[in-house]
Amino acid sequence: MDQAERLRMMVGNHQHQKPMMKKAKIITVASGKGGVGKTNVTMNMALELAKQGKRVVILDADLGLSNVEVLFGIIPSYTLSDMLFGGKSLMDILTPGPFGIYFISSGSGVQDLVQLSPIELQNCIVQLQPLDQVADIIFIDTGAGVSQTVIQFIQASDDTIVVTTPEPTSITDAYALIKTLKNNVSSQDRFPNIQLLINRVDTQEEGEEVFLKIQRASEKFLNTTIHNLGYIPYDVKMIQAVKLQKPLCIAYPQSSAAQAFYSIACKMLNIKEEKIQPTGLGGFMKKIFHLFGETI
Ligand SMILES: Nc1ncnc2c1ncn2[C@@H]1O[C@H](COP(=O)(O)OP(=O)(O)OP(=O)(O)O)[C@@H](O)[C@H]1O
Ligand SMILES: [Mg+2]
Repeated sequence: MDQAERLRMMVGNHQHQKPMMKKAKIITVASGKGGVGKTNVTMNMALELAKQGKRVVILDADLGLSNVEVLFGIIPSYTLSDMLFGGKSLMDILTPGPFGIYFISSGSGVQDLVQLSPIELQNCIVQLQPLDQVADIIFIDTGAGVSQTVIQFIQASDDTIVVTTPEPTSITDAYALIKTLKNNVSSQDRFPNIQLLINRVDTQEEGEEVFLKIQRASEKFLNTTIHNLGYIPYDVKMIQAVKLQKPLCIAYPQSSAAQAFYSIACKMLNIKEEKIQPTGLGGFMKKIFHLFGETI
């Protein structure tokens, strides 16, 4: 039985059943400033975790732009939009990628989940729910900027990777994102678990400096703790991989940036699931509903 057949069986078997105990861990990847490397981080982290045996799905939540498919160089047959409005199933919209991962392209026509009616959102939840059985980790790659949708995705996730570069504008925008989160989370809600990832560093010391800068400001002015996920070096191979439309860790596995992704994936697996139970897709969507002022 090949990978697609196995997935078809798993999704099919669970589509009409009550959700089972197993839940996927939801990790949202966000940034203040655009173009800092979120999509490349998502793809390469997903692939490194898949190489280490995790079942990973990427949801491209860059609604309307769908960069993930471009960087994979794979044209999906169907998208989230086709599931929501075109009668396609979850199985149809899961596009196979390398190392057994799957991704869901948002497609065009879904500008913002907020714009969906409660019935459409509920339909979306029900149809995505079987992902909890087929994935250990679901990455949500968000678009540029701090929209209300991104804030709500972060609040509903188990973990958030905030990507920044050492550029001052990127640092201030990353801090602004954390501040916006702080202002949006009420005192009874859990503050999002924020892992800072610094991309395009010249040296480890530079990465360390950027982390400390954001950490100190967050602690001092926002009374908020953030975690250090690690640093990815500036690497010309990354730019070449993007041009080839191939993930870096496949095109240039020996490159310094690919090695850094590998180390961070190892680190992530060591810090996994220690504190909180994974939310699962159902829990994630319920929180999104709650944040949108709807109840299910
Ligand atoms: N470590 C790196 N070294 C060199 N160049 C990099 C690195 N990471 C990213 N880049 C460059 O930055 C560009 C933008 O990356 P990417 O598309 O992943 O950013 P993004 O944050 O997802 O952008 P958007 O906000 O538009 O979604 C890449 O096309 C690549 O050229
Ligand atoms: Mg992107």
